[in-house]
Amino acid sequence: MSKKGREFKGIIGGENYKRVASLWGMKTEFYQKGLGNINLGAGMKAVDLGCGPGALSFALAENAHHDSSITGIDLSDDQINYAKKFTGNFRCALDFKKVSMDELPFENNSVDLVMTSMALHETPPEVRRGAVKEASRVLKKEGTFLLVDWCRPLSVAVRALWSPMLLFPKMSDNWNNVYPLLCEEAGFSIEEDYYISSIARRQVFIKNGGAR
Ligand SMILES: C[S@@+](CC[C@H](N)C(=O)[O-])C[C@H]1O[C@@H](n2cnc3c(N)ncnc32)[C@H](O)[C@@H]1O
Repeated sequence: MSKKGREFKGIIGGENYKRVASLWGMKTEFYQKGLGNINLGAGMKAVDLGCGPGALSFALAENAHHDSSITGIDLSDDQINYAKKFTGNFRCALDFKKVSMDELPFENNSVDLVMTSMALHETPPEVRRGAVKEASRVLKKEGTFLLVDWCRPLSVAVRALWSPMLLFPKMSDNWNNVYPLLCEEAGFSIEEDYYISSIARRQVFIKNGGAR
């Protein structure tokens, strides 16, 4: 683990990661549910934090306007290089960069959508806090922050199975779903919040500041 997070490389990167993720139910349908009704219109720009092999970016690209762009960022060359093989399958502009999610190479107020799936929990607490602040900085007013990650399961039986997670202090942010509070502190309002599987939670935040 680098000090910025767990880098998925070698036997847990690229195609291997994709296979294992699919065994955990993270297939196309999972990412479509994560996106919900979010789409990318003409001229819009999206960023995918901890994009891995690009599944969430590709789900968004499927229906995105041809004049829009999506940039996936990840710590791992293996994930990014694998994702890059598929960019030609879509009409919109797709790019993948090696960057940490708490140091986004974008101007203030320049992005329409920041999204992330199953990645914040792979970072140290200070990095995920930095990532939420960065999402707020780069988003335009009323821009959308889509956060999909695991959370304390709703079902008591499933919760018992997952409770060993509590042995890892860095997992308590997810178990306790600290994200609405972090997002509120970073200038967001929560718009949607529901589970898309027994453990994965979809939360949509809107950057404050527009005329509502
Ligand atoms: C569990 S995978 C999720 C990948 C993808 N979003 C998905 O839904 O399949 C977590 C990813 O976050 C990346 N990662 C970890 N720390 C990071 C950081 N500080 N900045 C960017 N990516 C990071 C890892 O390399 C890995 O590809």
